[in-house]
Amino acid sequence: MRYLTFALAKGRLARQTMGYLEQIGITCEEMKDKDSRRLIFVNEDLKLRFFLAKATDVPTYVEYGAADIGVVGKDTIMEEGRRMYEVFDLNLGKCRMCVAGPEDARKHLESGEIIRVATKYPHIAKDYFYNKKHQTVEIIKLNGSIELAPIVGLSEVIVDIVETGSTLKENGLVVLEEICPLSARMVVNEVSMKMEHERISNLVKKLKDVLDMAK
Ligand code: PRP
Repeated sequence: MRYLTFALAKGRLARQTMGYLEQIGITCEEMKDKDSRRLIFVNEDLKLRFFLAKATDVPTYVEYGAADIGVVGKDTIMEEGRRMYEVFDLNLGKCRMCVAGPEDARKHLESGEIIRVATKYPHIAKDYFYNKKHQTVEIIKLNGSIELAPIVGLSEVIVDIVETGSTLKENGLVVLEEICPLSARMVVNEVSMKMEHERISNLVKKLKDVLDMAK
């Protein structure tokens, strides 16, 4: 039997995913050592491998088949636009992709004029404004603390993730439009899906049962 390899977006999502996997008998003791600098972990008995990657790289590993399975946020999946199957919604890390800004930026969205949009997600922002709203905008790519942009005058609005809404609130910004709901998804490499169909669909089925019970 060959190894089935998982790429997990490191951080809370990976820990929660391992928690669910544990409930279906898939454990990886090696991974629990917080001081370890190891990047890849093996469960010899089940012939499974796990590695932690930066969230934005997970779709890349899965598309190229370096990982058979990935667990990553829908925001990253949409932004990266990789070829792979999205097999199910883990219902973890639920949040929304939104257009946000100061309340008075609403008029710019309604007028359809060319505005600046700051975001960590240029593809999602472009797709939303060009293909859905048919509005020409200038997209400015940032790497974090996106809420700063409209405050300091870099852009009129932002496209960003809103979870509790407190970052917006504390900075005097509001949600102006909702683009889509987000949550963590399991993704599978296209070839692995064919070659390891039984193992993967078994695993997905068991995980779904555990998640349904947790609801
Ligand atoms: C994310 C997002 C918002 C914030 C939303 O940022 O970009 O800034 O969380 O959460 P809230 O609605 O619960 O306040 P993150 O903390 O990932 O850091 P970043 O600013 O580097 O993107």
